Amino acid sequence: MKKIFQYLPDAIKTVARTSRANIPWTKIGGQRRWVSETYSKFGLEERRRIFLSIARFHHINRPVPGYYFEFGCNEANTMRMAWDSFHYLFDRQYVGFDSFAGLPAITEIDKQEIWEKGKLAYDEQLFINQVISNGMPREKLITVKGFYEDTLTDELAAKFVPQKASVVYIDCDLYTSTVPILKWIPQFLQVGTVIVFDDWNCFKGDPSRGERRAWHEFSKEHSDIGFEPFVSTGEAQSFICIRVG
Ligand SMILES: C[S@@+](CC[C@H](N)C(=O)[O-])C[C@H]1O[C@@H](n2cnc3c(N)ncnc32)[C@H](O)[C@@H]1O
Repeated sequence: MKKIFQYLPDAIKTVARTSRANIPWTKIGGQRRWVSETYSKFGLEERRRIFLSIARFHHINRPVPGYYFEFGCNEANTMRMAWDSFHYLFDRQYVGFDSFAGLPAITEIDKQEIWEKGKLAYDEQLFINQVISNGMPREKLITVKGFYEDTLTDELAAKFVPQKASVVYIDCDLYTSTVPILKWIPQFLQVGTVIVFDDWNCFKGDPSRGERRAWHEFSKEHSDIGFEPFVSTGEAQSFICIRVG
């Protein structure tokens, strides 16, 4: 059979391989089904648990008004989940901050095989379309395009104050990307703000790297702001702000 297969035209080989991958009882087909029905589904459920836990926390402890700030937008998976989880209960403005050009240059501290400059680039308009087609009215969504080091300025903050943030969702993978976010965010914190680190366990959970490192530095510098741990998953960790300076 293998011998016959090698003499088939490439186009037919491709069709045969694709068909085989879709048959659940072959090894490759079974693996594909497990990835979509078990592995990826589990990842989605874990994230949904975070968002719905925030919805319940904010509903029980209402009011915690203010923005949903998302740092790291990419394919709009989390922005859509935020809308799905919050809009029946709260009237929020949703703000997505992203370069829309992917990751910045990777410096020494963030070096890891999977990261490279420009990876995870996603077109801003495509992101907006994804969010809108999921039901969010256009006027509810604001995007801030650019690298955080450049965009998170006092001038930008002036456009958003005096309203605070109810949720700060950080999903930008790198230490160097998280630092400017945490520098900019204190002015938007209030008692009840939930801050989520989607990539808490990147870098094998090493506390001297990634979002964990940025958070530990931030916490040391801001002893006036208090947090308590909230929901965590195998990938993410969240905190509730319990005291502002
Ligand atoms: C893992 S993706 C976010 C996934 C997204 N939350 C979703 O659910 O589809 C990481 C995003 O962070 C953005 N990013 C990382 N570092 C950045 C920086 N320094 N400035 C702006 N955007 C950055 C990337 O462009 C990328 O879109």
